[in-house]
Amino acid sequence: MAKETPRATVPQHVAIIMDGNGRWAQKHHLPRLSGHEAGRKSVKRAVQAAIDHGVRYLTLYAFSVENWQRPREEVQGLMGLLRGVIREELSEMGKEGIRLRTIGRKQDLPDAVREELEAAIESTRGNTRLDLILALSYGSRVEITEAVQVMAREAQAGQLDPEQIREETVEKHLYTRGIPDPDLLIRTSGEMRISNFMLWQISYSEIHVTPVLWPDFGEKDFSLALDDYAGRDRRFGGV
Ligand code: IPE
Ligand code: IPE
Ligand code: MG
Repeated sequence: MAKETPRATVPQHVAIIMDGNGRWAQKHHLPRLSGHEAGRKSVKRAVQAAIDHGVRYLTLYAFSVENWQRPREEVQGLMGLLRGVIREELSEMGKEGIRLRTIGRKQDLPDAVREELEAAIESTRGNTRLDLILALSYGSRVEITEAVQVMAREAQAGQLDPEQIREETVEKHLYTRGIPDPDLLIRTSGEMRISNFMLWQISYSEIHVTPVLWPDFGEKDFSLALDDYAGRDRRFGGV
């Protein structure tokens, strides 16, 4: 009897590199910040689509460690937008059963944003329908570097035996501890790069790149990405 190759169905964890806000704004002769504001609606649509399709974890790359180098007004605008979104969407998250989580260097965020975030994380802790994970001031290399630093300290203190370090040990020291690896990685706006996003965690993720700019990304595009995923033959190095 022929052995069936395992087919992926609905991904448990979808991660999205939300790119193209600036180009969308340029196309519409608007300032870059208007692109980010328009992108906010796409976030709502993606969250709803994830819930509708039964996705359990949705990670959104919202701000990278490298993004701090952008012009001050853009960074400030993005931080203000972020704070507003968290505040305005909190009751909706409660109603929809969304648990808010973050990965990244939370300590880099302005106090007002961090406080708003922490309150929302705390108040949605018990929700179990969708884990919405925002990557904020996130960089994969810094994540791994910090993990190495902590493990080295633990080894020095005699709490960790270097001979006993396994992949699971490393995983436990990443921001994503306890979160399964993304099954599907989506990048919008057509760029064929990873931009320092979840380098460890996407080892075996299926990748879907769409030319659609993030502010134009909707339910249909999410479905298309899921269809693409469902047609993949995930082999994990096997045959
Ligand atoms: C993605 O859109 C949003 C963030 C990185 C914060 P961009 O702002 O990178 O948009 P483009 O790439 O310039 O079009
Ligand atoms: C990646 O987009 C980061 C986020 C989506 C937050 P960028 O626009 O910052 O990445 P590059 O510069 O195109 O690699
Ligand atoms: Mg970009």
